[in-house]
Amino acid sequence: MRKRLRNGHGQRPKQRPARQTDFGVNRRGSVMSAERIYLDNNATTRILPEVADVMARTWQAAFANPGSQHSFGQDARRCLDAARETTASVLNCSPGEIVFTSGGTESINTAVGGLVPRGQATIALTAGEHPATLAACRRATQNGGRLVFMPVDGQGRLEEDGLHQLPWEELDLAAVILAHNETGVIQDLTVLSELCRKHQVPLFVDAVQAVGKMPVDFRELGAAAMAFGAHKFHGPRGIGGLVIRAGISVPALLIGGHQEAGRRAGTEPVPLVAGMAESLRLFEERPEERIDAVRAMRDRLEERLKADAGPVRIHGAHASRLPNTLSVAFQGLDGEALLVNLNLEGVACSLGSTCASGSAEPAPTLLAMGVDRADCLSSVRFSLSCQNTMDEVDEAADRICRVVQRMHAVSATV
Ligand SMILES: Cc1ncc(COP(=O)(O)O)c(C=O)c1O
Repeated sequence: MRKRLRNGHGQRPKQRPARQTDFGVNRRGSVMSAERIYLDNNATTRILPEVADVMARTWQAAFANPGSQHSFGQDARRCLDAARETTASVLNCSPGEIVFTSGGTESINTAVGGLVPRGQATIALTAGEHPATLAACRRATQNGGRLVFMPVDGQGRLEEDGLHQLPWEELDLAAVILAHNETGVIQDLTVLSELCRKHQVPLFVDAVQAVGKMPVDFRELGAAAMAFGAHKFHGPRGIGGLVIRAGISVPALLIGGHQEAGRRAGTEPVPLVAGMAESLRLFEERPEERIDAVRAMRDRLEERLKADAGPVRIHGAHASRLPNTLSVAFQGLDGEALLVNLNLEGVACSLGSTCASGSAEPAPTLLAMGVDRADCLSSVRFSLSCQNTMDEVDEAADRICRVVQRMHAVSATV
């Protein structure tokens, strides 16, 4: 025994550092120092402690394969069923209409590819769709179909006249984002949904940014299918869902198993599903925490920036917006440079434009709203959550205003 503790030279081997299993995350479960402020919650959110607790318990108590016949499997099945019921009740659909997936992107690909499978579709969508929807729609039209872009107004809202003028007789699908990831603008889908019903065109709704940040009622939307993903609302990453209206057939994207009633093969990750359901349950139980409190912080930040951050333009300011999202053009500044400087000051946010092959490209959603290229490229998105505090927001506002004023001063001298 003693021998085994010694190396070939009869010396005790050097103590190996403890194996790092926390991947750089400190013991408090945060990679952030106290001074850094996270305002990028539309990219992803930090899991709620209550959600992590439920998941930790589920990994132990319901670890089995829910497809197994034995009692362990039945425990997991009960847990999965309960989570499905909770999810259905929050989204106002029936449990059998929900297919659990790995997240928003998979849900979108399943829905679009399944609703219009032949590659010859004509699809109506907005210019501001998430790249997942845009790419799935492009693929669904690549063999002779076409995309038709629905017009939006200067606030990013669907234009009613434009909806009436769509080539309804030709359309195979309408796809629309419910709450926009960049601007937070929320679409009123009443008219579009009514037209889809009248012309028997399936409506696909990307509710990835909406679910868990605002009440979402699947029945009321009148959609054929709706996508959502847990990591946007303080649930775990790697889980999401697709609601498919009863009676509508959406062939599985992933095949090779009978799970999810044959609509998505693969052993269900019960603890992830349970965590997602818990986050939705908490949202429904205490909506004020994720809506009213967050809106108050967002509004405070917006007011401070309007007052003290030089010339700004708030995108979608007059539209109904997600309570957490603030998309701002800091006119005269370069958004990318601003982002870098804000990061140095400990404020994490994201760009209102996309960076393709080293150069920033204006966000299509802003261009569609009529925002000029310069304002697009000076745009930055702040997205808050219930895990921010008013003190943090005040501190973030101070830092943002300081950085912006400094950048304006520098550009004035060159
Ligand atoms: C509106 C919207 N749809 C879809 C997605 C894709 O979700 P995920 O990357 O989690 O699969 C996102 C993610 O940012 C999104 O904001």
